[in-house]
Amino acid sequence: MKNISIIQNNIEQAAELLRSGKLLAFPTETVYGLGADATNDDAILAIYQTKNRPRFNPLIVHCADFDMAKSLVEFSPLAVKLAKFWPGPLSLVLPLKQSTNISSIVSAGLKTLAVRIPAHPIARSLIKAVGKPLAAPSANPSGELSPTSANQVIKAFSKKVPVLDGGACEAGLESTIIAFDKDKIIQLRAGAIARDEIEKALGLEVIVAQEGSAISAPGMLKSHYSPRAQLKLNITKPMGQDAYLAFGKAPEFSGTLLNLSPKGDIKQAAKNLFAYLYQLDELGVKNIEVAPIPNEGLGEAINDRLKRACVKPNL
Ligand code: TXA
Ligand code: MG
Repeated sequence: MKNISIIQNNIEQAAELLRSGKLLAFPTETVYGLGADATNDDAILAIYQTKNRPRFNPLIVHCADFDMAKSLVEFSPLAVKLAKFWPGPLSLVLPLKQSTNISSIVSAGLKTLAVRIPAHPIARSLIKAVGKPLAAPSANPSGELSPTSANQVIKAFSKKVPVLDGGACEAGLESTIIAFDKDKIIQLRAGAIARDEIEKALGLEVIVAQEGSAISAPGMLKSHYSPRAQLKLNITKPMGQDAYLAFGKAPEFSGTLLNLSPKGDIKQAAKNLFAYLYQLDELGVKNIEVAPIPNEGLGEAINDRLKRACVKPNL
């Protein structure tokens, strides 16, 4: 069947959909986003409805450049330092300016707004072509795996949402989310830029937000990023017959074996994580045993996702 919902190499066609208030999924360097004009209330409502996302969970706004970001939020000198990672997989939670025409539903009533300038050239060209900031959560039904390819988005929303194809996402994990508490830098979500990379580049400490603390990301739920299969973590000797997700040298295994990175490269493992979990779900696997992943660098974000993926929403 001809797939009419995938748009190839046509930024203008994609931009026109967004300008007319429609939803469009687009590639970023982290995962695919479910995009809408951030100034259009109806379009933003459609994001929440399409994802079945709780209305208390605010969206990240994607900007084409620093000027666009500055028109929406207040940058402290410390925030400007963090903005050195832009364009890139970093979202900054900053005070929302009063004079913007961003839909109030985007920030779920908070006085702050999460903004990011994506590094993916298609994403930036698209935002420029629309001429407005784009709100975009990951393009998956709430609680499920984030998509790292156009096909996953098409399946996740049963072809109801058009997708601008940009191939496989480079990082494969969502952006790192940073907020500020006076002069403290707080990591709300581990993500595609490792905490120690930020610390090294700036010579400043990045504090991990405590679960349930006042400064947190409302969307960091215990159960999230969840494949249909049941996960068991830190398994060096897999006992089951279903599937094993290896890292580094793989043990003997009679079931389906996928290796996140045979050479033990954490970046490659991050890129493959959601794609492989998705692949195993497609195969109808019921149980996945997962190798231990070192908790350094990007390993922090991988382990965060794996931990949440273990918890099933209906348990
Ligand atoms: O890489 C990414 O960040 C992807 C791509 C598409 O950009 N987007 C993404 O969006 O992961 P989403 O909606 O799946 O996750 C956004 C997270 C949620 O946990 C939400 O609670 C948090 O960001 N967030 C958004 N605005 C916030 C705010 N003002 N304060 C605290 N947390 C916020
Ligand atoms: Mg998400």
